Amino acid sequence: MKKTVAEILAYVALWAVVSSLAYASDPSPLQDFCVAVNDSKAAVFVNGKFCQDPKMATANDFFFSGLNIPSNTSNKLGFMVNLVTVDQIGGLNTLGLSIARLDFAPYGLDPPHTHPRASEILAVVEGSLYVGFVTSNPDNRLISKVLYKGDVFVFPVGLIHFQLNVGNTPAVAIAALSSQNPGVITIANAVFGSKPPISVDVLTKAFQVDKNVVNYLQAQF
Ligand SMILES: *[C@@H]1O[C@H](CO)[C@@H](O)[C@H](O)[C@H]1NC(C)=O
Ligand SMILES: *[C@@H]1O[C@H](CO)[C@@H](O)[C@H](O)[C@H]1NC(C)=O
Repeated sequence: MKKTVAEILAYVALWAVVSSLAYASDPSPLQDFCVAVNDSKAAVFVNGKFCQDPKMATANDFFFSGLNIPSNTSNKLGFMVNLVTVDQIGGLNTLGLSIARLDFAPYGLDPPHTHPRASEILAVVEGSLYVGFVTSNPDNRLISKVLYKGDVFVFPVGLIHFQLNVGNTPAVAIAALSSQNPGVITIANAVFGSKPPISVDVLTKAFQVDKNVVNYLQAQF
């Protein structure tokens, strides 16, 4: 059966949608590695970075040191993350991986956030954490657990999740993420602390609270 041009275009458009769903995570590399460099004259542009000539690669392109060092958690949340992405290790470019160290003061909180481009697998190295994530609409089911030293938990890509230190001693976790550049959206900061602010009309209706509550929340960020 002969297809019209319009039909063919419709198939192409549909295929584009389907394939963009199929490749929701970082695309697989087509070479052993592609060490990211910042020199636009150096080489080709892959996954948002320029690649170094592979012959020039050395061990230091695949190396980072310092995740033994605790971050300073003296802040309102009692929490700090040291995220090591392609910006710190050029050799991560195209590999779909990154790593982080999370430090929690006693009762410190990594507040609800999402990684738009990565799933996360987290191991508790020290202390105990109450962790959880919430499933998509319409269920919005909370899946949560208290983790102890040596425990591992997975946060699926895109879902809102958090970790709270439920102990009176510092807690430490190491997390691996399935993107060289996972991205972070902290919900409260994004919604109440955007620059410029989201209109109060939007937030009062969205949260079903009055203007004073919205103003108060915006003032916290
Ligand atoms: C490239 O530039 C960015 C932004 O200036 C910087 O954070 C990063 O460390 C640089 N990466 C390399 C591999 O030089
Ligand atoms: C940690 O951060 C706080 C607040 O910014 C600062 O006052 C303090 O000196 C820092 N501590 C260290 C050890 O750097």
